[in-house]
Amino acid sequence: MSLVATFAAEQLSTGESILDALESSHIVFFPRSPIALPDEATLRYLRSGLPAQLRRKNISYHPEAGRITGLAADAATTQRLEGILREHLASVSAFLRAQIAPLSVDWTVGTCSVRPIQERGRNLKPHASNELVHVDAGAYGATDGDRILRFFVNFNDHEDRVWASKGPIEQILERCGREAGLFDAHGQLAVRLTKGPMDRMLSAAVHGVSRLNPLARVLDTSPYDRAMRRLHNYMKDDAAFRDDPRGYEEIRFPPYSAWMVFTDSVSHASLSGQYAFVTTIIVRRRHMKRPQFAPFNLLMAHQAASSKSA
Ligand SMILES: [Fe+2]
Repeated sequence: MSLVATFAAEQLSTGESILDALESSHIVFFPRSPIALPDEATLRYLRSGLPAQLRRKNISYHPEAGRITGLAADAATTQRLEGILREHLASVSAFLRAQIAPLSVDWTVGTCSVRPIQERGRNLKPHASNELVHVDAGAYGATDGDRILRFFVNFNDHEDRVWASKGPIEQILERCGREAGLFDAHGQLAVRLTKGPMDRMLSAAVHGVSRLNPLARVLDTSPYDRAMRRLHNYMKDDAAFRDDPRGYEEIRFPPYSAWMVFTDSVSHASLSGQYAFVTTIIVRRRHMKRPQFAPFNLLMAHQAASSKSA
């Protein structure tokens, strides 16, 4: 089966197959965005007015803190952006609650961002570059094995957004788990994935601070997230992996299309494209219908029998 599972508008009532495709590491693609977009005048403003007011590569709305980051603008502009992103986030959340209801239980809505910069040729350092194929690791601090779900809309009126992928993480681990330092010579898990006492102390401290400042939760980490960071860095840093054509494919997302994917399991790179909405949600692994596809469980399946019983 191809990496991309396409759902036309008339297929949207069959939520079960969308859930199936998403959980089994596919890119769920909607040729026409199922989310109503802001009117054309607002989109034009986002395309032409915003780039001058950027402080970071993305402008993000953080619902838990009720604020915008990445923008250097006056109060009226900030408020306008906040309204646009809050509304988009509400539409995406409602759509997902209807289509993939089981995954919406206890989820954490992370951020809703607008990406106004051309992805091609940004010449970022390897770890920051979206142009190198990777899996996402540790969104908003520790996921501790929960899933990173991203929903994208290309609101460019004439240019495709182009991704590259080298397949789902199960294939990457199969090919490179050892080189990435996650498996030993016998193919068994070489890293710890569950939290020890020190990890729990750190998480408790971060939890305390984030009651005062919700954005502080990015400081949290976990052994699982560190393992995923290791894989992420390996994929971006290792010349042999970068040059390895196995599993490589390019995917084009035309203007006004949308797609969603677990970016912690489907490898991806943004080769080119400009102007997208990106919503990030942390989904609980325990609510997956097919938890065997979760990277945490794929890694745990490599744990040596002796340490499983320990
Ligand atoms: Fe990514």
